[in-house]
Amino acid sequence: MVRHVFIETFGCQMNEVDSGRILALLGDMAYVPVPTRDEADLILLNTCSIREKASHKVYSAIGALRGWKRHSKGRLIAVGGCLAQEAGEEIRRRAPHVDIVFGTHNIASLPEMIRNAEVRRKRTVSVEMTGDTRHWDILPYVPEGAVATMVTIMQGCENFCAYCIVPYVRGPEVSRPAGQIVAEIQGLSERGVHEVLLLGQNVNSYGKKEGEIPFHQLLRRISGIDGIDRIRFITSHPRDLDRPTIELFGELEKLCPHIHLPIQAGSDRILDAMGRGYTRKAYLAKVDALREQRPEIAFSTDFIVGFPGETEDDFRRTIEVMETVRYDYCFSFKYSPRAGTAAALLDGAASMAEADERLQRVLVLQDIHTAQRLEAMIGKTVEVLVEKPSSRDASHLFGRTGCYKAVNFSAKEVGVGAQFRQVLVDKAGAHSLSGKEV
Ligand code: 5AD
Ligand code: SF4
Repeated sequence: MVRHVFIETFGCQMNEVDSGRILALLGDMAYVPVPTRDEADLILLNTCSIREKASHKVYSAIGALRGWKRHSKGRLIAVGGCLAQEAGEEIRRRAPHVDIVFGTHNIASLPEMIRNAEVRRKRTVSVEMTGDTRHWDILPYVPEGAVATMVTIMQGCENFCAYCIVPYVRGPEVSRPAGQIVAEIQGLSERGVHEVLLLGQNVNSYGKKEGEIPFHQLLRRISGIDGIDRIRFITSHPRDLDRPTIELFGELEKLCPHIHLPIQAGSDRILDAMGRGYTRKAYLAKVDALREQRPEIAFSTDFIVGFPGETEDDFRRTIEVMETVRYDYCFSFKYSPRAGTAAALLDGAASMAEADERLQRVLVLQDIHTAQRLEAMIGKTVEVLVEKPSSRDASHLFGRTGCYKAVNFSAKEVGVGAQFRQVLVDKAGAHSLSGKEV
């Protein structure tokens, strides 16, 4: 009997790929994805707990499913991902309508848990950090016609940055064998995928524990795969980004001229308190080295404002870094204490009002820099990988440049055909470019 699943994914790309795997697993059990809750027999929430706000969002989403569950007999709710891993027992207690709670290491056992819930109405909480990597053998569901997809190369993190909960909810670092990664990407290429985004919490330490090839060699191997034209990766730790990887930006054309390099803060004192393992100077030296290899390279970053002990003077260093690097875009967050992390024990977090004010200053300045970086593209011809029709105009297409700039453009031909188009940029918006195909 065909049943229907509605999956909602919170948080980062890691969760998106996990959701793709979950859909593939459920597909084998004859569960078909549907776009609305009302059509579903099973609702699955793949959750995030990186900041308090993220956890709250999940708890309210869980609460909101009470009515849905009551509406008809046999409906099931499963909650997985990072919040499930962190607070499995609490979810079981607070939400008796949830049937299954599964952690980030228990994806491969999900079919069994669902069977138990379907047949025996048995509630399961399964959040052991087993180090299970069987889920890597499950190829994530990739929608028909996808040209760009994500591929996990490692899981977990052992950096224990003072503010961060990820090492506790994702567990120790484990890298996938290079052969398995290459095989997956070859398969994707045969399905028409041109661009891959390699995923890991700390890609620069890929394979170190396992004695696998280093990350830069993995990039080289992937660039040898026919049909794959663009390679990106996230996330790079500024401390571990090494010379050979930096040099690859000058050598491998397929390596996209864009890097996400989270600095978190501009003050050495705060970086030290965060346990990041680099100074502002060392970070900026890597930015310079990358620009030397690839002058057009785009930078993005993450900032945390209001970390315990951050003074106005410390915060000004963050602004200084922004002025120096001129990021193409950034993600900025107010510090959020997470139970169990080292920083949760520290005093002196900025007041809410101070943190709000600092966040605002970052956002305003970044908007200016983003706009300037986009305006600098006007008059240039860029190569765009077409992802879909533009939402604004049926004669237009939407895609991205190698630098990850979003482009809407009037196409010579809209239907299928060449995925890569040459586009003359004639306008810059707040977050995207527009132009015409040449
Ligand atoms: N508070 C605020 N921001 C955080 N991040 C991670 N943990 C926290 C926290 N406790 C941010 C960091 C990281 C991004 C994914 O989330 O900037 O790079
Ligand atoms: Fe968290 Fe630091 Fe690991 Fe990134 S490197 S996931 S910020 S502990």
